[in-house]
Amino acid sequence: MTTKKDAAPIMAAKDGDALGSRGGKTAAAVEVPAMAAPEPSVATEEKAAKLGPYVAYAFRGTDVRADIRDKYGFDGELLELYASGTERVVNKWHHYLPLYDRYFARWRNRPFRFLEIGVSRGGSLDLWRRYFGPEAVIFGIDINPKCAAFDGISGQVRIGSQDDQAFLARVVEEMGGIDVVLNDGSHQMPHVHKTFEVLFPKLSYGGTYMIEDLHTAYMRRFGGGYRSSDNFFNFTRRMVDDMHRWYHRHGEHRSDLGPECSGIHIHDSVAVFDKDRPFAPTHSRVVRQGKS
Ligand SMILES: C[S@@+](CC[C@H](N)C(=O)[O-])C[C@H]1O[C@@H](n2cnc3c(N)ncnc32)[C@H](O)[C@@H]1O
Repeated sequence: MTTKKDAAPIMAAKDGDALGSRGGKTAAAVEVPAMAAPEPSVATEEKAAKLGPYVAYAFRGTDVRADIRDKYGFDGELLELYASGTERVVNKWHHYLPLYDRYFARWRNRPFRFLEIGVSRGGSLDLWRRYFGPEAVIFGIDINPKCAAFDGISGQVRIGSQDDQAFLARVVEEMGGIDVVLNDGSHQMPHVHKTFEVLFPKLSYGGTYMIEDLHTAYMRRFGGGYRSSDNFFNFTRRMVDDMHRWYHRHGEHRSDLGPECSGIHIHDSVAVFDKDRPFAPTHSRVVRQGKS
């Protein structure tokens, strides 16, 4: 594995690129002319509904670093790694950077096992290698056979579908277990569900399961919809119910998943599930001796 450090000039991807790449299609990167980033407006929201969020909310400025720092107050190594770019394209929503750091920082510079679903053009595996350091076991899976070209560069790449239970089991076995999952694959609701059902039980205690781009839960072409029962956030709601199974009499929705889910964090388009040993809640009352 190598971790090349030569930074390429940062470029913005073409409109629609992020979603376009989900089927494994490639799109060239283009330099974006200098102009001020537009504030979201009603017109932008209408455009988002018509053209999709990747067009409407595409960054049109020139300084990715400053945009992330100024809007989210986020600074540090991950920002630097992302904003300086790698030799392979990686595209991320700007508000994801602080979230990655919030949930992944504790895994840095130590041996652990990380799986990214969705390799695309290999840039994110480069980013993760640089961020996590040489001790991390980093695997990426993708349905697109072309992604095999990235195998062994910043991590191991295996080709298969994220809804293939046997494939996922083989990959986790090869990894020697799994501590962190980042699902950035097809974003099809049945896939998001299936992958979670297969991988969450395999996650180690103390592990982190992050799903990004969950705005797709609201999109029909991803099998979701605003009030659709397949919208992933409905499942998330049931996981919240299961986490509170001690306090209601409605039973567990998913006794195979819920009891070991110790935390659920929802952000714009990102859901994070913590996994820990299940214990019945214990309450106590303490006071120093001699006081009442
Ligand atoms: C958004 S891209 C991944 C981007 C990458 N993580 C990054 O940050 O640069 C989504 C990827 O998911 C892959 N994909 C689509 N369907 C899949 C499936 N069923 N199983 C695994 N990967 C799939 C696509 O081929 C595409 O490369």
